[in-house]
Amino acid sequence: MKNKTSIQGSWASRWIFILAATGSAVGLGNIWKFPYITGENGGGAFVLVYLACILMVGIPIMMAEVFIGRRARKNPINALADVAEESESTKKWGVIGLMGMLSGVLIFSFYSVVGGWVLHYIKVMLTGEMIGVTSDAAGSAFGALLADPATLLGWHTLFSIMSIAVVAAGINKGIETATRIMMPALFVLLIILLGYAMTTGGFAQGWNFMFEFDFSKLTWNAALVALGHSFFTLSLGMGTIMAYGSYMTKDASIGKTVLAIGGLDTLVALVAGLAIFPIIFSNGMDPAAGPGLMFISLPVAFGQMAFGQLFGVLFFVLIGVAAWTSAISLLEPTVAFLVERLKIKRITAAVGLGIIVWGLGIACLGSFSFMSDVTFFGKNTFDFFDYITANIMLPLGGIFIALFAGWVVKDKFAQDELQLPSAVFKLWNISMKYTAPIAVAIVLYFLINPMQ
Ligand code: PFF
Ligand code: NA
Repeated sequence: MKNKTSIQGSWASRWIFILAATGSAVGLGNIWKFPYITGENGGGAFVLVYLACILMVGIPIMMAEVFIGRRARKNPINALADVAEESESTKKWGVIGLMGMLSGVLIFSFYSVVGGWVLHYIKVMLTGEMIGVTSDAAGSAFGALLADPATLLGWHTLFSIMSIAVVAAGINKGIETATRIMMPALFVLLIILLGYAMTTGGFAQGWNFMFEFDFSKLTWNAALVALGHSFFTLSLGMGTIMAYGSYMTKDASIGKTVLAIGGLDTLVALVAGLAIFPIIFSNGMDPAAGPGLMFISLPVAFGQMAFGQLFGVLFFVLIGVAAWTSAISLLEPTVAFLVERLKIKRITAAVGLGIIVWGLGIACLGSFSFMSDVTFFGKNTFDFFDYITANIMLPLGGIFIALFAGWVVKDKFAQDELQLPSAVFKLWNISMKYTAPIAVAIVLYFLINPMQ
């Protein structure tokens, strides 16, 4: 293909791509969602299925997304169309990118609300108002925050502006600069917090909870949650990694790079679990507390512990940083598309899209108050956006990307980008053609027709 670089620019090095993609991958999914869905789904067996999904489905699909993006060096819709055309297929494959952009918009809307909760809790930790509170008091404080749309709106607006500003500044000045500063900070904070958790006395219990594989607790629904989460956590199935891949230099090895990203994301999720569950157990709290796990149990725990205020602030700053670098990446594919297709300025595209996702976010934050009566299939807007994206749209996007990479793209073009040893290429190809699509299809089938 003729494009040597994207008109949006390209990353300064292979490491910047790894860090930027890791910044996208590591987010609320790892630190907020993973621990609470592990708690809700019984721990160990869920973790094992999750790890299998990452390795057998997530990593191969991530390779496909990166190579499609890098080959075409365009936004996901046009990248899919161009790569299809090169393999003498129809440009209509671009619609997968369109569905991906819709997923990004829906995810951003609730993501930014949770990002807002995190900002609020940085403030709460700083002021020390949670020191010495009981679980009940922390629960009511979180409930009161959810019931207060004005406060939520303020934080959601701030988080949206922070994200839009970085995207508006562009690949190099915006995303790359943010990556260079925030990713090292994130790793340092995580290591400090893990060390802290090891001193709490609940570490063995936390470890056993995550790694004792009890399959009697595994249900089809848990398998679906694990599979869906493997897409969500790696930012797959919606074109984000494809867009980031389109800014990647040609000389870097896609296989190794993707393994590094997938490995780092998994490591952060496991470490986050190992930092959070010990704190929960050592304070006698319930691991299955749901979305409030982090916002109720942890403040109580920090409020009782030595240096709890300091570590509490650090913890919520860590989550804020992680959420921020992911939120940016939710907007990037659509912004790139708007810039390339409508030939408008990046700042115009970013602000325009920003207004839309900010508005949808208001429906999400209102789910806990003035819009609590509005439900879709029995779920409020916030839960519904989370459910259809993570459990349905991302896995479906993933199936189509896999089928596309396996059946439509000619092997010689895929291999031209991937440059894998031939045995590894065969494995990858089998995953694209069969393993990944069939795994996703089976799990979705059993979700729709539960087996009793
Ligand atoms: N991977 C992010 C997380 O784990 O929090 C969420 C996410 C970001 C999903 C970007 C999808 C995406 F395109
Ligand atoms: Na993640």
